[in-house]
Amino acid sequence: MTTKNKKRRIAILTGGGDAPGLNAVIRAVVRSAIWEHGWEVYGVRNGYDGFLEPDGVYPLTLEHVLGILPRGGTILGAANRGDPFARKEIRDGREVLVDVSGKIVQRAKEMHLDAVIVVGGDGTLKAALRLFDMGLPVVGVPKTIDNDVNGTDYTIGFDTAVQVATDALDRLHSTAEAHHRVMVVELMGRHAGFLALHGGLAGGADVILIPEIPFHFEVLAEAVRQRVYRRRQFSIFAVAEGAYPVGGQPVYRRKGDALTAPRLGGISEVVARYIEEATGIESRFLILGHLQRGGSPSATDRVLGTRFGTFAVELIAQDRLGVMTALRGDAIVPVSLKEALSQHRNVDPNGQLVRTARQIGVYFGDETWLLQEASSG
Ligand code: F6P
Repeated sequence: MTTKNKKRRIAILTGGGDAPGLNAVIRAVVRSAIWEHGWEVYGVRNGYDGFLEPDGVYPLTLEHVLGILPRGGTILGAANRGDPFARKEIRDGREVLVDVSGKIVQRAKEMHLDAVIVVGGDGTLKAALRLFDMGLPVVGVPKTIDNDVNGTDYTIGFDTAVQVATDALDRLHSTAEAHHRVMVVELMGRHAGFLALHGGLAGGADVILIPEIPFHFEVLAEAVRQRVYRRRQFSIFAVAEGAYPVGGQPVYRRKGDALTAPRLGGISEVVARYIEEATGIESRFLILGHLQRGGSPSATDRVLGTRFGTFAVELIAQDRLGVMTALRGDAIVPVSLKEALSQHRNVDPNGQLVRTARQIGVYFGDETWLLQEASSG
C-alpha cells in the first residue's frame, strides 16, 4: 500500500476566535478525507480543550457537514483563551494557569491519530508548532479576520470581515453627509492594520489609521479642516483598534494580566472627542466589534476554506506534517509552521496598498506637511 492509499485516522480542531469560513474548511476536510481517501475523521470540540474532555473528540461523518458551508462560526466550537501551555483552570477556588500540552499529545497518541488539522490564528498555530515539536502530528490552516499570519497572502475570514467593514462604511457615508458629521469607525485587527486598510479603501474612508503608521492628532484635525475648505462637510475615518498616536500607546478596554488576555478598544472615541474639540465639527464614533466576525462567509472565504481544507488532507496523504496551508498568489502551497510563525505579519507602511491610498488622497495621520502648509498659508 502506498502512503497515499494508507488508511488514516485524522482529527480537526478550530482554535482562537471564530472567523467566517471555518465551516468550509471542516466540510472540505471531512468530505475529501472520507470520499477521496476513505479515512476516519474526528472533530475536537472547543479548540484544544476537546482533547481534555471524555467526549471532546468525536467521529465526524458526511452527515455532520451537511448544509454548513454558508454558516458562520464553527460547528466544532472554539476557545479563544485555550492555550494548552497556559490553560486557565479553577483549583481550590482560585484561577491558575496549567500546562496541559502533555495530556493533549498523550490523548492523540492513545487515539492513534495520524494527524491533527489545527485551524487557527497566530496564537493557536504557535501552540500547534510547540505541540508538533512534542510529537503531535500537526497540519495547520491559517484563519483570522486580522490577516496577520505570516507566510500566507490571506487567512480565512478576512475577506468576509472586510466586506462587513465596507458595508458599514457605505451606510455611514449617507448619514455622515446628511448631518455634516465626522464618523470614526473602529475596526478589529489587533496590532495589524489589514482590516482597516482594506475595509477603509473599499468603503471610501477619508482617513485610515493603522498601528503600522502612528498618527498625529493635529494632522487629523487639519485633514478634516482641509476637507471642509474643499466643501466636504463630512469625513469618514476607518480606525484599526490597535492604532495609536506618535509617542503614545494603543487604547485597551482591559489591560490583561497573567490570567486574562488584554482587550483592545476605545481609540475611536479618543479620536472622535479630539476632532470635535479641535474643529468644532460634531464627531461620532462607532465600534463595529464582533459584527465583523459573525455571519455567512463570503464566496472568497468559502472557496479559500475549501481549498485549504482539501490541501491539508493532501498534505497528510503525503506525510507532510509540521506545515501550514498558505495562499501565495493564486496557488495553495505548504509553508513550514516554523518559518511562517518566526515573525508577525503587519501592513508594510511603504507598501503598494498604502501608496495607492495616499495617491487617491486618503490621510493616514502622519502627513505633518499639512500642518506646515496650514501655518504658512
Ligand atoms: O483575532 C481576532 C479578533 O477578532 C481581533 O481582531 C480582536 O482584537 C479579538 O479577536 C477579540 O477577541 P475576543 O472575541 O476574545 O474579545
